[in-house]
Amino acid sequence: MTTASALELPAAMDPFRPENLADPYPFYERLRACGPVAHLPGRDTWFVSTYASVSQVLRNYREFVSGLGSSYHRVSESGFRFPFIDNDPPEHTRIRRSVQRHFGKGPMAELRPMVRADIERLAAPALAAGTVDVVEAFSRTIPNLTIRHVTGIPAPDARTMAGWADAAFHVVGPEPDPEYVALIMESLEWLSTEGLPAMPAHCLGRLMMEQGGDDGLLAAEGSERLFALASIWVAGVDTTNSLISNMIRAFTLFPEQWQLLREDRSLIPAAVEEALRWDSPVRVFMRRTVDEVEFQGVTIPADADVCALFPSANRDPEVFERADEFDITLRRPTAHVAFGASIHLCLGAPVARLEAAELLAHLADNVERFEQAGEPVRGVSRVVRNFSSLPTRLVPAARA
Ligand code: HEM
Repeated sequence: MTTASALELPAAMDPFRPENLADPYPFYERLRACGPVAHLPGRDTWFVSTYASVSQVLRNYREFVSGLGSSYHRVSESGFRFPFIDNDPPEHTRIRRSVQRHFGKGPMAELRPMVRADIERLAAPALAAGTVDVVEAFSRTIPNLTIRHVTGIPAPDARTMAGWADAAFHVVGPEPDPEYVALIMESLEWLSTEGLPAMPAHCLGRLMMEQGGDDGLLAAEGSERLFALASIWVAGVDTTNSLISNMIRAFTLFPEQWQLLREDRSLIPAAVEEALRWDSPVRVFMRRTVDEVEFQGVTIPADADVCALFPSANRDPEVFERADEFDITLRRPTAHVAFGASIHLCLGAPVARLEAAELLAHLADNVERFEQAGEPVRGVSRVVRNFSSLPTRLVPAARA
């Protein structure tokens, strides 16, 4: 049941239709013009698309809950609960505390030289080749190696890991193909039989599996430990893959921004944030109402599915001046919601930021500019906006 002020969207305004996924920003502009929240009868889903409405839904975690499921499918339908994203306090607080410390400043300082070394090693052949597929050269490989340092789980080959991580985001979206479910099962099988036994003596993965994380907060019974670890393992791969490609694509399209960055390396952190805002990796996460909620002049009924469109919020001109422009000098860097907000704010955000910043620093030393070297091909995921191919020329910087 909807109130008079809630706009009913026609089927053509479904954010999951292929044409809207393929060219999302003009579509999001039209959607925001429909109001902060609009109902799509075909999916019986309430879409929030403005910065104010997305932020409010994420911050009001008592009325817009995650415990009924924060992916497209309710926990009651899928029969599966992801320990971090599909829980509310106090369970969520307990699970998050079991690992939070490992994503703080100290662990990131230890991680940085390892990521830097990986990037130097991966970049050498790419720079020598000159023209590369950015997806193969950097976007798939860097997160695969980084997540090994973070968890202790050895890295399978980058293509396999990218396939598993991509599948993980397909199954949390609408209408997942059974082939993705099979890939998830394959990844869990590998994790149990090869990944976990090969972890080194001291690592986050062993701490979680053997001691339940810090203070033994993860339950020993059931599969909470395994799925909490698996969540961290896959959550950071396809998302960071997307960030790396989207970021290099942005600098290809806005070469003057790359020149600014090369002239002033202190702009690197702001450049990473602007890439996250301008072309946000995660398209959607869901929340559910328990009771009826009065929201921005609209009554959202009890037990409703509410879908937050993160990239739309990040292009809202009410908040971001010249929102469609990629500009690394213009904005308050972390105002975006690409990592979500409030209690479910991305656990791995410091890791993703570190990977992206290290890559930019290395490329700034070596690449004069990026040129498109073939037609970019977007991936088909309805949840993560990634590339499956991004042919790019890395025009070498003149040596001093
Ligand atoms: C550019 C890269 C990334 C993006 C854009 C991203 C995006 C997000 C978003 C939007 C959420 C919020 C979900 C919600 O509100 O329901 C989230 C949560 C999460 N992310 Fe990330 N993520 C990235 C990288 C990573 C990495 C590298 C890791 C692990 C090392 C990671 C692990 C997680 C986990 C465990 C959660 C759940 C947090 C919770 O529910 O408390 N993410 N991420």
